[in-house]
Amino acid sequence: MNELKNRTIAEIVSEDISTASVFKKYHIDFCCGGGKTLENACNKANVNVNAVINDLINNKPKTQTPILNFKDWSAEFLTDYIVNVHHTYVKENIEIIHEFATKVATVHGHHATETIEIAELFSKLGDELFAHIEKEETILFPAIKMKAINQNYIYDKEVISILEDEHEHAGAIVKKITLLSNNFETPDWACNTFKALYFKLDEFINDLYQHIHLENNILFSKIK
Ligand SMILES: [Fe+2]
Ligand SMILES: [Fe+2]
Repeated sequence: MNELKNRTIAEIVSEDISTASVFKKYHIDFCCGGGKTLENACNKANVNVNAVINDLINNKPKTQTPILNFKDWSAEFLTDYIVNVHHTYVKENIEIIHEFATKVATVHGHHATETIEIAELFSKLGDELFAHIEKEETILFPAIKMKAINQNYIYDKEVISILEDEHEHAGAIVKKITLLSNNFETPDWACNTFKALYFKLDEFINDLYQHIHLENNILFSKIK
């Protein structure tokens, strides 16, 4: 605990870039103000150092998916899993990545033009995903639950092909971002915000691939 208090923000973020999200949450500047110790930075930001340490200790990148037998699950149970794991992740992370992307594009766009394009593409992706998730949570997923209760319940399956098209569109945006970012390889001169942006984008896209896979290949094939 005490050891972490006396380390600088820059050291902590450099060692594990995923911690950038924790500092962002508490409005602690990990980019230009990284030279301060954790304790000093928390005092300056007027936040409880122990709360930050607790979040740092519990901070784990969300790129790993546990091995679960999704295929054996009922469609309605799968919808709950998708909402609680993937939709929650998307909702919690769009804003923070959008902020990182905007900051990097503003500061570095003049010499790294791809950062401007990445920020624009991510903003579009975020808007589309919000509307898409809303459609799943208010139209298709409740219909799947109704069907589980009443086998005679008939719902319009047309929405499935609309959702599949939207997945394809999101996938095309994701491919462009991956290409522009050189597969999330940061340049040598990248600051911590730049590193945090590519780390979070990589994590977000891995989560999205798993999310779309669960819907297209498992959930939709159960209900078609
Ligand atoms: Fe979804
Ligand atoms: Fe979806």
